[in-house]
Amino acid sequence: MEEKQHKRRVHYSGKYPKKFEEKYKEQNPEKYADTVAHVISKGSTPAGMHISIMVKEILEVLKIQPGEQGLDCTLGYGGHTRKMLEQLTNGGSQEGSAPGNSPGCIYGLDVDPIESAKTVERLRNAGFDENVFKFRLINFANIDKVAEEAGKFDFVLADLGVSSMQIDDPKRGFSYKIDGPLDLRLDPEHGESAAERLHNITRDEFVGMLVENSDEPYAEEIADKVFNLMKKGDPMDTTTALRHAIESALWKVPKEEKDQAIKKSCARVFQALRIDVNSEFEVLYSFLEKLPGILNPGARVAILTFHSGEDRLVKKAFKECKKAGLFSKISEDVIRPSAEECRINPRSKSTKMRWAIKA
Ligand SMILES: C[S@@+](CC[C@H](N)C(=O)[O-])C[C@H]1O[C@@H](n2cnc3c(N)ncnc32)[C@H](O)[C@@H]1O
Repeated sequence: MEEKQHKRRVHYSGKYPKKFEEKYKEQNPEKYADTVAHVISKGSTPAGMHISIMVKEILEVLKIQPGEQGLDCTLGYGGHTRKMLEQLTNGGSQEGSAPGNSPGCIYGLDVDPIESAKTVERLRNAGFDENVFKFRLINFANIDKVAEEAGKFDFVLADLGVSSMQIDDPKRGFSYKIDGPLDLRLDPEHGESAAERLHNITRDEFVGMLVENSDEPYAEEIADKVFNLMKKGDPMDTTTALRHAIESALWKVPKEEKDQAIKKSCARVFQALRIDVNSEFEVLYSFLEKLPGILNPGARVAILTFHSGEDRLVKKAFKECKKAGLFSKISEDVIRPSAEECRINPRSKSTKMRWAIKA
């Protein structure tokens, strides 16, 4: 009889699990609260979780009162939604709150069918039923459609970009640091993946995308490399293939600067592709245009952005609305997370918040 060779169970190397699939404890925060607290105390985001940014500052701006109707345009892990729901159902923010008859309700939106399903379940398990929390799988570019159904809103939050769960999941292809399919779609069930997009555009369009979306200084070199490789039949369909192409495109950079230059270019190229694949500027523009029309008088809005292109659009839209008399007040300057928050959660470092109040 043929003897079966004993196969050793594969162990992760090192003291702590490194791969996303190995981090089963971090993916169960309710069950393994200690592990999760330990990971957070080390300045990392636990796998499958998102640490909400500037929660205190957002709640101060939104001044939630009982009976109000709110909108969280970017549900994500639901951290902000949950804090807002707690305020709504616990008598509102302290300033001038009085318990009303109806607790009010919050609509949560997201385009990601995978993570939003888990978040909705988590919020339901935490006791927030359909009366106080309603989820809609819809792009925030369509807030007018949501308002047609729900009526106008008293407070609105938009926390733009991607969640840590999306970044950390290799199957989603958001990170150049993890091997996976070059996808980068917030909604992987619709539209073109980043790999398909690269096959459907020209070299010059790719250069334009890298410059316009991310100010990539090596746009020409990277586009040449990527398109030459694809012409030779090399598939550009994984995060690793694209990272390798970027690494070899930067061959001219002096040795002592190379590692940093490659890291920065990888981050910018992936950001540019993500913005393009998800039409992020177009949807933000559409959202900002429709925003004043879905607000009740006196409604408060807070928007968190993560790169200068986004912040420029928000700043311009808020200023124009103020000038047109649609907003009574807007933040004079951007508000940034505290040094302590940046230390605890390094992913918050690039965050800028702006707020506005409907006239
Ligand atoms: C930074 S995360 C939000 C995290 C959330 N505030 C929390 O505390 O967990 C951004 C979320 O917005 C979603 N998103 C991004 N663009 C969107 C859009 N145009 N419409 C709807 N959802 C969007 C992403 O899928 C992601 O889940």
